[in-house]
Parts: sequence; C-alpha cells; structure tokens
Amino acid sequence: MNCIDIINKTKRSQKLTDEEIKYLINGYTSGEIPDYQMSAWLMAVCLNGISEEETITLTKVMRDSGDVLDLSCIGGFTADKHSTGGVGDKTSLIIGPVVASCGVYMPKMSGRGLGHTGGTIDKLESIEGYRVELPFEQFAWTVKKTGFSIISQSGNLCPADKKIYALRNATGTVDSIPLICASIMSKKLAMNTDCILLDVKYGSGAFMKTYEEACVLAELMEKVGTASGKKCRAMVTDMNTPLGNNVGNALEVIEAIEILRNERKGALYELCIDLSANILELAGKGDIEQCREMARDAISSGKALEVFRKTVELHGGNPAITEDTSILPQAKYSFKVKAVGNAVIKSINSEEIGMTSLLLGAGRTEKDDQIDMSAGIVMECSVGDTVYEGDTLMTLYSSVCSDFSQIAVRAVNAVEFQ
Ligand code: URA
Repeated sequence: MNCIDIINKTKRSQKLTDEEIKYLINGYTSGEIPDYQMSAWLMAVCLNGISEEETITLTKVMRDSGDVLDLSCIGGFTADKHSTGGVGDKTSLIIGPVVASCGVYMPKMSGRGLGHTGGTIDKLESIEGYRVELPFEQFAWTVKKTGFSIISQSGNLCPADKKIYALRNATGTVDSIPLICASIMSKKLAMNTDCILLDVKYGSGAFMKTYEEACVLAELMEKVGTASGKKCRAMVTDMNTPLGNNVGNALEVIEAIEILRNERKGALYELCIDLSANILELAGKGDIEQCREMARDAISSGKALEVFRKTVELHGGNPAITEDTSILPQAKYSFKVKAVGNAVIKSINSEEIGMTSLLLGAGRTEKDDQIDMSAGIVMECSVGDTVYEGDTLMTLYSSVCSDFSQIAVRAVNAVEFQ
C-alpha cells in the first residue's frame, strides 16, 4: 500500500478500503507518514468529501489509536454530552448534575476555550481549588459518589485526533463535515459511555453557520455513533445569540448555579431541560415528557444543586459557592454599555459578543494565553426587547482592562436594532 495512491483515490472521489484508512491514520500517528502527505489527503477530503462508510471507519480507527475507557467500575448507565461549542454555553455544568440526580452517571472530559468560544474546563478553573486533572480511578470514584464529574482531556485518548487536528488547524482543513465528525466522535467513542447526546450548534457563534449545515453534521454524527454500538442522538440548536445572559468563566459558573438554584428561567433553562430529558430518555427513564418533568423536578427540588455542590467539593473547590457566588472571582472594573436611542433589538451577534469577552480578558487567542477568570459580559437585553435611551444593554467586566472605550464600541456593534 502507498500513501500517494490513497491521496489520488480521494482526489478522484474513489472510495478507500478499511485497510487503506487504517494504513493512513496509523502511519501518520506513528510518524511514518509525513505531514505533507497527510495534509494533501486532508485537503482532498475537504474538497471532495468521503462516504459515510469511510467516515465510520475513519472514526473507529482514530478511536482505536489510543485508550478506550472501561467505565464498568462505575456500575450504572453512563452518558456523555457534547456541544460543538458556542458563546455562553455552560450547559454541561447544569445538565451533568440534573441527569446525575435522576440516576444517570455522567463522566465527562472537556476542553479549554480558544478564540471566541469558551471551554468548560476554564469555567471550572474559575472555582478556586477545583482540580481539573484527576487520575482515572479518582475520576471514576467521583462519578460513582456524586453521579457527575468533569475533568480535562487526559491520558492517551485519541492521539491520532490530537495530531490530525493540529495539522488541520495549520493547513486550512478544519471546515470539513466528515473530518469534524470523525474528530469529535472518535473522542466521544473513546470515552465509551453507554449513550452520547450531541448538541450541534448553528449560527453566528458556532462552527456551523447555517441550520442546514448543522443538520448534515448532526445526522452524520448520529449515524457514526449508532454504527459504533452506542445509543446516540444529535440535536440541532441555535447559537445566533449568546446562550443565557452571562459570558465569561466565573460569570458563567454563577449563571449555572442560579439555574440550579431554580432562580432563573428562559432559553438557557429550557435548553438544559430539553438536553437533559433527551439523555434521560436514551437511558430508558421514561418518555420524553416524563423525562422533561424529571429534569424540571431535579432543579426545583434542589437535588441537582446538591450534586453540583458535592462534585465541586470532591474536586477540591469550595462547595459554599453554591450558596454565595460572590466567593468566585470578582472583576476590578466594570462598564455599562447603554442604548443611545429608542429601538427594538433585532439580533445579538454571538461571535462578536464572544470576541468582546475575549478582549476583556476572558478568552485566548493563543493556546497558552493566560485568562482573567473574572472577565466577561452580562447581557441585560434580549432579542425582541424594546430599549430606551440610557437603558443598559450589557455590563462589561474585567480585572486586566480598565479603559473600556474601544471594547464598548465593539460590544455595541454586536447588537443590531430594527
Ligand atoms: N472540535 C473537534 O474536536 N474537532 C473538530 O474537528 C472540530 C471541533
């Protein structure tokens, strides 16, 4: 077998055999196939696509490039949830405790934020003392104890994806639906939970800009998950406006706690109920309406908040944050962005809000940038609201930036008026 033949086949839209895909991925992971040949193949996939069967094989080979977790020690039905990323997306911090309090275990590995999107691990690190790295045994023990734990991606999970994703970032080959599918699903399959719920986002703040593209990715991921023996469901949800009111690490933890305390309703609450209910249904807990009711009850009864409190404690964080969120990092400086006239809000551009939050210090442009845990934005308006001159549209927070003049202009430009 040789790599040039494989590149040529994909270039001519001819189907690769399972052996050819194994040869390519394993050869690249071990270093026998060089970056330039892999880049050429990735570009051919970007331009021509590959079939569903090839995507399934590619995903499985990438999964098998490293460890596949054995979660049997947890001793119950396990679920994983993945969001394709967005702005203000703190749903994992809410859904994990909700489903755990309904008897479904959620062991989860998450990533850090880059660019305009946040990462769950950064959000958790805003809780002083919370350890995002735990040895596998302690991670599994925590899940067994509370039903829920989130740690950073660790161990030897999907080394093929690590290497290929880095190459895709450097060669303009990220935006390919089969490659995105294989990258995400190989990691989900290596986690090896009984079910996987995928939240595929579309809109200004998401990877997939249109609903149609998101549906194609969602359908493919669901097929790959099911073909790999998992109960798998993909939902397509809106990321045209930021999710909830708060964007930024500690601010998002605060909002998640307020939801778990049953103090906030609205789009974020409804999405969390919907996603949780779908996991509970996949776990066989009832029909979708019964599962929605269970999820609402998990919040209103305080059971989900208790799971979150115990999980934070077992990870080394201060559980008192669930009662007193002022313990979380507080910004030194703040600035209110005000409406300059009377108007109805037509849209709020998620990507621009994410970029504004990044400029305030909440995000990274480079992988190793330091972030300001207190920084971010609290939205005080929603799409469809009528605002009057002098009303606050949003409040900007930062501990590293005290001159808000330029950033406020960018923030206000994210809001479109009718
Ligand atoms: N997230 C991933 O993990 N992989 C992709 O290819 C895109 C988003």
